Amino acid sequence: MKKIAVMTSGGDAPGMNAAIRAVVRSGLHYGLEVYGIKYGYKGLCDGDITLLERNDVSRIIKSGGTILGSARFPEFKDIEVRKKAVEQLDKIGIEAIVVIGGDGSYRGAQALTNMGIKCIGLPGTIDNDISSTDYTIGFQTALQTIVDSIDKLRDTSMSHQRCSVVEVMGRNCGDLALYAGIAGGSEFIITPETGFDKQRTLDAINNSFSSGRKHAIVVVTEHMLNVIDLAKDIEEYTGYETRATILGHVQRGGDPSAFDRVMATEMGEYAVELLYNGKGGKAVGLKNMDYVDYDIEYALNKKREIPNKRYGLVGRLK
Ligand code: ADP
Ligand code: F6P
Repeated sequence: MKKIAVMTSGGDAPGMNAAIRAVVRSGLHYGLEVYGIKYGYKGLCDGDITLLERNDVSRIIKSGGTILGSARFPEFKDIEVRKKAVEQLDKIGIEAIVVIGGDGSYRGAQALTNMGIKCIGLPGTIDNDISSTDYTIGFQTALQTIVDSIDKLRDTSMSHQRCSVVEVMGRNCGDLALYAGIAGGSEFIITPETGFDKQRTLDAINNSFSSGRKHAIVVVTEHMLNVIDLAKDIEEYTGYETRATILGHVQRGGDPSAFDRVMATEMGEYAVELLYNGKGGKAVGLKNMDYVDYDIEYALNKKREIPNKRYGLVGRLK
């Protein structure tokens, strides 16, 4: 193998740049040419592909976002569209791609592997929703951003004896809410894993105010409910003033944490080593503090383990 490429796809995540840098520098270390594909699978089909040299990835390890850009490109599910992508790669002679993204990007990587392009998936998403790794690149950084916000919300909620409802990202995964709930000392969390029972939630919040609590933080995973409506309901039911905050895309930005930089760098090198050893169709993960690789198919079908004890912790400490 002489030529490989790297791309970022789906929602961007802090640490993607560190992974790109590691792929480029490791590739050069192994004597490979490394190409950057701009804007995910869309750029691949458009032939938006450039050779990356050592200095093209200088100083990016510390930056959020992705220098390659990212995109959502549902058209890639169509085999005719994917054939165009393979043609673009064949023109340059690129035999393999490191795809940094979430589970959707992994599906694209598997589809391309089936068409003869060796792909390696690196878990790049703030959602932590990939079951073949304990942590995804960007999760720790986004979590810190959320916790910083919860700390600030607690200051003002305490001063005003209010309840604060905070919506965080995560798509269908409650990890950002769960870890932020623990790290921010929040009183209640509502996630896809906990489910949402409005009356039970209102009763629980009401009981905690009746037993002397003067303020409360409720962390909610997006798409579960309308946090503005929930804030109104809490205010009406408990008599305590309540405010809603939707953190939104601020969670996706910012310089990556040291942990995300290290993990992204080590995963980037691991991906290149897999390719150098002729392997493709693999997803890299961190499991029990060790880097591992699984078939992408397996990684996609692996069931997520729900950390029940950790979920119970929020309730036990409230
Ligand atoms: P993420 O990778 O963060 O989960 P998406 O779900 O948006 O984000 O997926 C990223 C991209 O991966 C999609 O926009 C599309 O180009 C590609 N993709 C997703 N699902 C498939 C699929 N089943 N087959 C081929 N490509 C896919
Ligand atoms: O997958 C990352 C993520 O930030 C999710 O948490 C969120 O649901 C989604 O992407 C938002 O996507 P977009 O940036 O396309 O609005």
